[in-house]
Amino acid sequence: MVTRRDFVRTVGVGAAGALSTSWISARGREDSVWSLVEPGLQAQAPGPIIPLSSNENPMGPGQVVLDAITSAFGPAGATPGRYSSATNDLRDALAKSLGVTPANITFGCGSTQILRTSTHVFTARDKALVGTIPTYEECAGYADMLGHPVRAVSLDRNFRADLDRLLDASRGAGLVFYCNPNNPVATYVGARETKEFIARVHRVSPETTILVDEAYFEYVTHPDHQSMIPLAIEDPRIVVARTFSKAYGIAGLRLGYAVGHPDAIRKMNAWDNASGTSSLNVLALHAGIAAIGQGPAFVDAERARNAAARDFTIKWFADRGMRSTESHANFIFTNIGVPARQFRDGCAAKGVRVGRDFPPFEQAWCRISIGTMDEMKRAVAVFGEVLGKPGAIVAA
Ligand SMILES: Cc1ncc(COP(=O)(O)O)c(C=O)c1O
Repeated sequence: MVTRRDFVRTVGVGAAGALSTSWISARGREDSVWSLVEPGLQAQAPGPIIPLSSNENPMGPGQVVLDAITSAFGPAGATPGRYSSATNDLRDALAKSLGVTPANITFGCGSTQILRTSTHVFTARDKALVGTIPTYEECAGYADMLGHPVRAVSLDRNFRADLDRLLDASRGAGLVFYCNPNNPVATYVGARETKEFIARVHRVSPETTILVDEAYFEYVTHPDHQSMIPLAIEDPRIVVARTFSKAYGIAGLRLGYAVGHPDAIRKMNAWDNASGTSSLNVLALHAGIAAIGQGPAFVDAERARNAAARDFTIKWFADRGMRSTESHANFIFTNIGVPARQFRDGCAAKGVRVGRDFPPFEQAWCRISIGTMDEMKRAVAVFGEVLGKPGAIVAA
């Protein structure tokens, strides 16, 4: 088992110099972390930048979402001038689209807030946080900051969550952070295996809560693909975290949510209200309502667009002997054969920004977010130059 320090270190503190490890880890958000540990890319490379480092939707929000944001300003800016009254409208719209009740939902300023609140509510000095290493670091960083123990288990040889080892580590734990697909390695555990895992955890450790992070749910192309929301609304020991930052393309507006049993949601709301962290902005609420209104066709199109650019990029690396994990997200994790920092610096000098270090894989693996097809075609030309493996750009 890896130590708590190792787990928290996964945010890439090697690049952070004098900044405090736990402080950076606790920040966790993709782009803000990057801006702390790396110099501005504009300073390194003139001209347009291809940002492949923060797992956003490169298309941004749909037009109806942009229109909703604009019209939220209302006559003479009335709406942003008032405290938000649209939370219930968003809650109702979301509940309807998910087939749950409004009491099953709570919102956060990004799902970052949901992850932090869950860590606060469900871990303690004698109730550990459990997760894989690597995984998305928000919960581990926050638990570390609170002085709550963190148990981290390594992945299996295919970079998937090792469910047996995770189960062992879960005994007596307060919270299992189950990130599926898992950032940064992009792998996904199918719904049947996930449900079995949750049931096994509750057999050996009935008090443990499982936080299923479905931030990249919309991008999954696995045949056994199902949300854990139906389980969560029946069982207060399961919470699902979701976000509008990824497929819906509004990362900068900061809107995420949790779906769970009303008892779990009440506990989370109690902490949010007591701590005053509940902080939604009115433009995000209007954007969220419009985003849901786009219906499943929007998500289907975005999933297909991403899968095509993802397949193209994975194939480009495979054709040159470089293996990627099986990605079910809008990023890939690839064995580039050189330290990530070296690759990253080489790409940055040519205007392409790729992922930070992810210990313990930073010596040979890099996370690359998927941009548009055009961006990926231009990016692989840069990758070829940096890695000394050029060649004609493969047709999509
Ligand atoms: C797995 C995972 N969960 C949660 C988040 C937090 O995203 P946000 O706060 O923008 O919803 C991220 C961000 O990249 C992530 O990768």
